[in-house]
Amino acid sequence: MPGRGTARTHAGIPFGGAVQAEHFDSDPSYRQAFLDHCDLVMPMNELKFSLLRPNRESWNFEPADRLVDFAIANGRLCRGTTHVWYGATPDWITRLESEREIAAALGEHVERVSDRYRGRVTDWDVCNEVIAHDPASEGPLRDTFWLRRLGPRHIPDAFALAARADPSATLTLNDYDLEFRGSRYDLRRATMLSIVRQMQDRNVPVHRVGLQAHLYLEKEIDVEGLARFGAELKALGVGLVVTELDLIDWQIEGGPAEQDAAAERSVSAFLDGLLDAGRPAAVVAWGITDRYSWISDVMPREDGKPERPLPLDRDYRPKPWYETLRRRLATA
Ligand code: XIL
Repeated sequence: MPGRGTARTHAGIPFGGAVQAEHFDSDPSYRQAFLDHCDLVMPMNELKFSLLRPNRESWNFEPADRLVDFAIANGRLCRGTTHVWYGATPDWITRLESEREIAAALGEHVERVSDRYRGRVTDWDVCNEVIAHDPASEGPLRDTFWLRRLGPRHIPDAFALAARADPSATLTLNDYDLEFRGSRYDLRRATMLSIVRQMQDRNVPVHRVGLQAHLYLEKEIDVEGLARFGAELKALGVGLVVTELDLIDWQIEGGPAEQDAAAERSVSAFLDGLLDAGRPAAVVAWGITDRYSWISDVMPREDGKPERPLPLDRDYRPKPWYETLRRRLATA
């Protein structure tokens, strides 16, 4: 694994982690863990629309700049998330009156941000989580501010804007719940394929689909379904990238041994499906250490025991599943 300052000369599939500015500043071991383990380092939140431009008058590039600079100065790849996400839409945009003003504000944002990070942030989640949670009953698209005000065309429009602003960037459509077994997941995969096809029919570039891969350990991975999904995308010339890998063990009874055994099973099945159809561009974990994870805040365990969502434990010791993952990425 690359150390400080070394160029990225790995074989295999790059492994990455999402970094948060607040811990980056306060915890030197955290910073070091990205250097010790990651080929790719991406800001977790700092490039989201509402953080970059909290109000119409001011931009807040500094935290994102520091993290992107850290990645690049250390020879790491960097990817960005995200221009269009219902979870990071600034209030000021939602108060704009006309469709024209909203579209212009989005255009200005994509242009300015793409331009600033051109050549450094080389892969963008242009749109995040546009598919309805359950496309059968609510969809196919998620009901968001963007859909309500700009209609379904905000998705191809955002990609076209991003392509124009930085023609060299890789453009990714990112979403969750694309790997499990069951009709809701089948439909989410089918919806993703249909969005990609519609964009291609309009000659709008979409280069990759991002699998968030928040893996609920109690759910079964649909190995064949995932492999088929990857193959169908590949036939369309679209690749896969894993963007937010972590493990949700809130339903797993027992302690670290049981949590890690369930993690090993789930990650192995996920990799079986993922690697079947080809090489994902990268596998990025949503953090690096169990010290800091959104899972503990959003999906805490009922028994109050610590969750084990990330590659390294609270003391920065690698988990067995992470070693399995690195081995498989290295030889893929
Ligand atoms: C989460 C971050 O992990 C949190 O730190 C932040 O407060 C909210 O966003 N799906 C996504 C991510 O696409 O952007 C979310 O990240 C987690 C769910």
